[in-house]
Amino acid sequence: MDITSIRKKAIDTVASTSDLKDLEIVYKSFLGKNGELNNLLKTLGSLPADQRKEAGQSLNLLKKEIEAIYSQKQTDLVYIESERKLKSEKIDVTLPGVVKKKGTIHPVTQTINSISDFFISLGFEVASGPEVETDYYNFEALNVHADHPAKDMHDTFYLGNGGLLRTHTSPVQIRTMEKQEPPLRIICPGRVYRKDSDLTHTPMFHQIEGLVLEQGASFAQLKGLLNDFLTDFFGQEMELRFRPSYFPFTEPSAEVDIRWKKGWLEILGCGIVHPNVLEMAGIDTKKYSGFAFGLGAERMAMLKYDIPDLRAFFENDHRFLKQF
Ligand code: PHE
Repeated sequence: MDITSIRKKAIDTVASTSDLKDLEIVYKSFLGKNGELNNLLKTLGSLPADQRKEAGQSLNLLKKEIEAIYSQKQTDLVYIESERKLKSEKIDVTLPGVVKKKGTIHPVTQTINSISDFFISLGFEVASGPEVETDYYNFEALNVHADHPAKDMHDTFYLGNGGLLRTHTSPVQIRTMEKQEPPLRIICPGRVYRKDSDLTHTPMFHQIEGLVLEQGASFAQLKGLLNDFLTDFFGQEMELRFRPSYFPFTEPSAEVDIRWKKGWLEILGCGIVHPNVLEMAGIDTKKYSGFAFGLGAERMAMLKYDIPDLRAFFENDHRFLKQF
């Protein structure tokens, strides 16, 4: 094989290569260890001495030439490859993005949050207790004795192990009084359970309990506080009626009605904490007195958002929930 034909072959093959990997192979086939040029170099020794020098020089020139066209081709191919990549990976920034659907906060949760915020702004702390309670905290410590008729009013879910599902958030009053020294101002939102299920009752619902325990806590303060709260909650001055009522754990007790669509609507229970309750919790009744109130969160949400059917809160239909 002579130099001229190797040269032509090298130029042609490099020219027809369109891939960087192939180009590498082509390069090796000419300039690699066992490439054609090297093989030719090995035959130099067999040439007559007067031709060796010239042949050596020509081979070296050819080597340089092939290296030059190789590196030129390499540059070209790298450029073509990066152009191709740029084109294929081009991002169209004008395409609309993927819109993730946002969830909404459940109206009952919103109601609980807004009620809690009102009381927090008055210095109340948020307290909580277990949903599985003992008879002591749910009844006994709240002045509801074993044979008390009020126990039947509650339609309690009893658990096999002697525990029960709390029927109201009032046990949190007791748990907090046992743990913390007065003065106390707490608000306790949470789930409660009753064996009740119809248009206006669900076996699980939410209550919000309030307790103020301090020197001189009075019914007048309770009335003022509830009045301010209800005005804030409904965003307008509310007409209230405090109707004498009965709860074993408060004395006196009242139910609060609001003027609603030409009638009166009961919305919460309240009263002065019964001295028996305070004494059982180890509170010095000569020094401290307290008032408490409890209200249903679903009920408040129904009134605020004008929702006629309680069940809407529990079905979790997106079309309903996303309106809030
Ligand atoms: N625990 C009472 C109920 O569930 C409400 C209440 C709370 C009444 C605090 C008075 C004081 O009906």
